[in-house]
Amino acid sequence: MNAAITIDKSTCKVCGTCGDVCPSHIMYKQKDLKIMNIHGERIQFCVKCGQCMAVCPTSSVKIDGLSYEKDFVPLPEGGPFEDAFYKMIMSRRSVRNFKDRPVPREMLAKIADAITYSPPSVPPIKTEITIVQNSEVIRQALPTMIEMYNTLIKGMENPIIRMFIKKSAGPEKFKLLVSHVIPSMKDRMPELKSGAEDTIMRRAPAMIVFHADRKSDNYQIDIYIAITFGILAAHSLGLGATIIELIPPAIEREKDLRKLFCIPDGNEVVAAMIVGYPKYRYQRAVRRKLKNVTWI
Ligand SMILES: Cc1cc2nc3c(=O)[nH]c(=O)nc-3n(C[C@H](O)[C@H](O)[C@H](O)COP(=O)(O)O)c2cc1C
Repeated sequence: MNAAITIDKSTCKVCGTCGDVCPSHIMYKQKDLKIMNIHGERIQFCVKCGQCMAVCPTSSVKIDGLSYEKDFVPLPEGGPFEDAFYKMIMSRRSVRNFKDRPVPREMLAKIADAITYSPPSVPPIKTEITIVQNSEVIRQALPTMIEMYNTLIKGMENPIIRMFIKKSAGPEKFKLLVSHVIPSMKDRMPELKSGAEDTIMRRAPAMIVFHADRKSDNYQIDIYIAITFGILAAHSLGLGATIIELIPPAIEREKDLRKLFCIPDGNEVVAAMIVGYPKYRYQRAVRRKLKNVTWI
């Protein structure tokens, strides 16, 4: 994480903004010398978020590994964005009914680009994605997914296998399996097996799978934030998307699926979203209440 930080004194206006926005206040105004200086002992805390470079009016700060030309884009004027933002978040729903229409590659590329603007926790960036633009690949994966859930349902009925599942899933995931996943998959199994309905991937024309090196830090939370950007980006483009929690465990466990979705050996499949053109238009937004809100 050690980054070399330099400030071009010939252009720096000593406004101090870089140090103010830096999460660790690595830069500071040295008042007597009227220059920006660097707390050398804090350089180790630089997370290369790029805030200092993004805010500098004279492009005078330089973080090793970040380039003004390659890593930054000019921001459009404007804001606040409350109206547009609210319209967007209120109208977003999990879309599970799609038109039989492929999603153009450019649209998927835009979603992938939007995902890159999601905030990563600590460097380096760990999130990897597999963009599935060929619906045939999704169709091809379905039988293995069905088989995996069928085996899981059967395994849960055997006390010894159930114990192993509990151990490998961990308490939180196991609770979800018992309370929700297994009962609903049992219910869905006849239609899935007969081919009447795909209640896993919803016959989506496209899909994005999120994965990361399981040896890296904090990747799961990064991925959940990234996928949130992904579903919002899809919605902003007039597409519909849904996070499908049923997909990652199947790809994670099944060798054929790992290969089909090009998941590197050391990677954990953390999340997946299906994408397509929505078949229906929602007429109203749902108003939800949080469990609790405390004001202090
Ligand atoms: C982490 C996560 C996992 C989800 N997994 C599934 C899933 O496996 N299948 C599904 O149909 N929807 C899934 N959803 C979508 C939720 O069911 C959905 O967000 C919820 O019902 C609220 O509906 P809305 O998104 O339309 O507001 C998931 C959502 C989240 C946040």
